[in-house]
Amino acid sequence: MTFLSMLAPVADDMRRLDLLIGERLESDVPLVRQVAQYIVAAGGKRLRPALLLLACGALGYRGESRLTLAAVVEFIHTATLLHDDVVDESALRRGRQTANAAFGNAASVLVGDFLYSRSFQMMVEVQDMRVMRVLADATNAIAGGEVMQLMGSHDPEVDEARYLEVIRRKTAKLFEAAARLGGVLAKSPMEEGLARYGAHVGTAFQLIDDVLDYFGEETEIGKTLGDDLAEGKPTLPLIHALRSGSSAERSVVRHAIVAGGREDFGAVLAAIRACGSLDYARAVAERECTAAQAALAPLADSEFKRSLLELASFSVARHS
Ligand code: IPE
Ligand code: IPE
Ligand code: MG
Ligand code: MG
Repeated sequence: MTFLSMLAPVADDMRRLDLLIGERLESDVPLVRQVAQYIVAAGGKRLRPALLLLACGALGYRGESRLTLAAVVEFIHTATLLHDDVVDESALRRGRQTANAAFGNAASVLVGDFLYSRSFQMMVEVQDMRVMRVLADATNAIAGGEVMQLMGSHDPEVDEARYLEVIRRKTAKLFEAAARLGGVLAKSPMEEGLARYGAHVGTAFQLIDDVLDYFGEETEIGKTLGDDLAEGKPTLPLIHALRSGSSAERSVVRHAIVAGGREDFGAVLAAIRACGSLDYARAVAERECTAAQAALAPLADSEFKRSLLELASFSVARHS
């Protein structure tokens, strides 16, 4: 299955989502529109709304709220990217200059706030307290996860459990919320299963993102390699090398985490390659993918379900 065929069951919804996103970016403040359109026009995979729409499809829910909430999760995601690129001092996103590089940190932070608050306005329109609770909790968990990650930066003592806790909060929570909302809208007993599915897919997705930060192709991922190392982020490839490397390898990696920067990138790459840390991180992501797919077992077969299963595999096999 290709990426496009995976989204084929919701292709019509995705087109309508695109229009809705464009409409709801409107603001009478020109810089808001300019910065928001800048990042939105660069594209993005739109995986989180796809997950929500596929979940709705699998449960036979056709209400208009699905499109509103699909736009809400994409706006929340986009807001986190605007803020994340400021915090990570990243220069490239979606194959072009980041908004912070193009417009400055202040504009990125403020337009991120605008998108967050626009998403609140839109979720209120759905008039469902459970929907608001799910999204409020997810947004709060993301913010907490990013702060937790900040506390762990430059710290070589961060272990695998703490790393997993960070990525469950900062990334998996929004995938979980997107999948869960399908169940909430459809008032389905599959809500918990879908939530578990989303959490595992999101965890796998971030594990692979952290692998691609070392081993990806910049032209494919549209981001600069080595951003994580530059910020001294102890991601799983490094944590594994610190656990299993020779004393020389461990000291290279430890020093790189503490110092940050890009000078040690080549040496760190060699160390994590030699330690098999790439395979290790991929294997953990595979396990998450299998758990995600297992969570969908009670769901009746459909083209939507098949795409959800495929989306889990894509999160691990992806190069971009
Ligand atoms: C990037 O997410 C941030 C992470 C959670 C790793 P995506 O890779 O889904 O970003 P876009 O929307 O496709 O650009
Ligand atoms: C994901 O972490 C960021 C959020 C979930 C907000 P990263 O910092 O790894 O994301 P990228 O690599 O910049 O897209
Ligand atoms: Mg980042
Ligand atoms: Mg990353």
